[in-house]
Amino acid sequence: MGKKVVVTGVPGVGKTTVINGAMERLAAEGVAYTAVNFGTFMFDVARNEDLVSNRDEMRKLGKDDQKRLQQAAASGIAAMSADANIIIDTHSSVKTPAGFLAGLPAWVLRELMPDMVVLVETDPDQILMRRLGDASRVRDMEGAREITEHQEFNRAVSAAYAMYTGCTIKIVKNENFLLEKGIDDLVSVLR
Ligand code: AP5
Repeated sequence: MGKKVVVTGVPGVGKTTVINGAMERLAAEGVAYTAVNFGTFMFDVARNEDLVSNRDEMRKLGKDDQKRLQQAAASGIAAMSADANIIIDTHSSVKTPAGFLAGLPAWVLRELMPDMVVLVETDPDQILMRRLGDASRVRDMEGAREITEHQEFNRAVSAAYAMYTGCTIKIVKNENFLLEKGIDDLVSVLR
């Protein structure tokens, strides 16, 4: 059986940057991982149904639509080879107009059964600056206090994922000027 590792973090924390760095390092060592983006699986379905025109609109959809898209993404990812090592780039929770939505509710966990959930975190002021610097996305504008609250909620909801699946929870810091340290920490748990 391959390893299933879910990597999460609030938007703009740099989870995709850390994943890409880790994949490059592991490939050089001959350790094969496939990285899949959960939001891309959801977006492909949402776009086909004309529900959204960009991926940042998905978190504004009604709860039932988001849950249906989650289910479709989880089934699509679960259909990938059971023997492959897979990194799933997603969210412990999504901030919607109706409140926090669990990124890995029971019907997603049942499909994925991850070995580990990684929380990528950093200082909220750094996240704020990264969001402001990313013109390619439609980022929610939040203050440092709200970002802190979201990171705290992600830790709390991840504890529930550990209880449900027996997965471990690994916290990886992705601080300014210390990207390589974040990559080292992720690589150390993927080998
Ligand atoms: P997704 O595509 O995952 O969107 P996102 O959270 O905005 O993720 P990004 O990849 O844009 O941000 P990132 O944190 O990975 O940062 P990045 O590496 O780009 O999800 C899209 C949507 O799908 C969600 O909004 C949601 O609606 C839906 N979705 C997904 N999963 C779901 C689920 N399970 N349930 C329900 N809905 C779900 O980096 C950001 C910037 O920071 C870059 O400019 C980068 O260069 C910079 N940076 C990174 N690291 C550093 C560093 N160490 N120092 C300085 N700068 C850095």
